[in-house]
Amino acid sequence: MNDKNEMLLEFESKSQNESFARTVVAAFAAQLDPTIEELADLKTAVSEAVTNSIIHGYANCFGIIKMHCIISDNEITVEIIDEGVGIENIEKAMEPLYTTRPELERSGMGFSFMEAFMDELEVNSALGKGTVIKMKKRVGKPEKMNKLTQEAKQKVL
Ligand SMILES: Nc1ncnc2c1ncn2[C@@H]1O[C@H](COP(=O)(O)OP(=O)(O)OP(=O)(O)O)[C@@H](O)[C@H]1O
Ligand SMILES: [Mg+2]
Repeated sequence: MNDKNEMLLEFESKSQNESFARTVVAAFAAQLDPTIEELADLKTAVSEAVTNSIIHGYANCFGIIKMHCIISDNEITVEIIDEGVGIENIEKAMEPLYTTRPELERSGMGFSFMEAFMDELEVNSALGKGTVIKMKKRVGKPEKMNKLTQEAKQKVL
């Protein structure tokens, strides 16, 4: 069975929309029947990516942030897309404790959290064009996905 579902959300780069995006991704992922811990991981990763778009991508202006989510079987893919300033050196930006905004008391741990809480993380960015963060996480118990198959097998045995 290939269960697929998709949604796209666009919102302004305002700090109050960070919790809005986090809540929306949790509501969308609920159909996978995630554990509380999986939901918390997903929400934290989305929070970090959206906060980055707000405070780094659109540091001196407001812009649009897109959140694109795809569910395929028991995996959720989340893309956080901004058209802000972009990242000059992605490898360096992803190092733990690296931040370009120490004056804002940022700790430089956002990418490390995204990596730790998700199964896959991909960063694409171009200076002056923007940044796309693509993250994937397998969510929910696979046996639940195959409940029908299991029931069918039990009947045969
Ligand atoms: N969407 C983005 N647009 C432009 N630059 C970004 C973006 N996301 C991250 N960066 C750059 O990558 C650096 C590292 O990001 P990371 O989230 O790891 O740390 P931080 O945001 O500086 O601190 P923290 O997330 O711990 O508050 C940032 O300081 C910033 O320079
Ligand atoms: Mg950050």
